[in-house]
Amino acid sequence: MNFSHLYETYCNRINKKLFEIIQELPFQNSVLLKAMKYSTLLGGKRLRSCLIYIIGDMFQVHITTLDVISAAVELVHSYSLIHDDLPCIDNDHFRRGKSSCHIKYGENFALLAGDALQGLAFNILSSNHMPGVHDSMRLKMISEFSNSIGYSGMCMGQMLDLEKEKKNINISELEEINLYKTAFLIRCSIRLACFSSNHFSKEILFILDKFSISIGLAFQIQDDIFDLKNDTKKLKDKKNTYPLLIGLKKSKIKIKELYKEAFFALEHLKKKFDVNKLELLTQFIIKRFK
Ligand code: IPE
Ligand code: IPE
Ligand code: MG
Ligand code: MG
Ligand code: MG
Repeated sequence: MNFSHLYETYCNRINKKLFEIIQELPFQNSVLLKAMKYSTLLGGKRLRSCLIYIIGDMFQVHITTLDVISAAVELVHSYSLIHDDLPCIDNDHFRRGKSSCHIKYGENFALLAGDALQGLAFNILSSNHMPGVHDSMRLKMISEFSNSIGYSGMCMGQMLDLEKEKKNINISELEEINLYKTAFLIRCSIRLACFSSNHFSKEILFILDKFSISIGLAFQIQDDIFDLKNDTKKLKDKKNTYPLLIGLKKSKIKIKELYKEAFFALEHLKKKFDVNKLELLTQFIIKRFK
């Protein structure tokens, strides 16, 4: 199978869906919408969407349902990146090779764009047609989503990251930060795809959670190594990353271990499901950062 082709197909699909969602909004000439478009439509690897499409495909979920879940997740992801770059958080001037949202549109509009994207994500998830998904399951998805990105999830991760920025932290504290700020949204993406299917069971969810937490944690370490190599994020001022805490070599070993755990989790799904695409996507994510 040509995985690059599949990846491109899914990227095009989610980009089209996001474009259509934004196209339908009122005040098309507003600065707020321009800032939202800038941060949502121009770039992004769409890895969370690809996970959703591939898990959904594995469980035979209707693709229209997966479009809705992917859109909601990408909208929240875009919001999180806008706010993450703000002067009061990471103070980053660049995102996806261009100026950050607040550099281009100002802090006030960037803040509002993030807020509006978060609201839009919940509007899409709560109102767009999802073939095969009962309202009770939709509610469960909304509950899972709000929990994963809020106080008990991503926002807590961002707070821990800020709080620990200047302190000496140990590796388990660092892992907790990465779990909350990054892995929980990835776990949530996969959970939502699973909830939307007829294959939702505690056993399957347990395996998928193991898989998603492993790739989520690995993904953040890869991102930190990437940032360090490119020196884009003034990481030398910060202590809370794997490469700065344990060095590059040990960080790479840790990444390898985590991916091993991810593949091991998938072994348990093989009897019932075709995990081939999911394995290819995992390999694709690993290779991107080598
Ligand atoms: C960046 O995520 C933020 C992290 C959680 C590490 P991505 O690397 O997925 O960002 P885009 O969407 O591809 O730009
Ligand atoms: C971002 O982590 C995590 C969230 C936005 C929740 P980083 O701060 O490491 O991501 P980048 O390097 O700015 O993309
Ligand atoms: Mg950050
Ligand atoms: Mg950042
Ligand atoms: Mg980073």
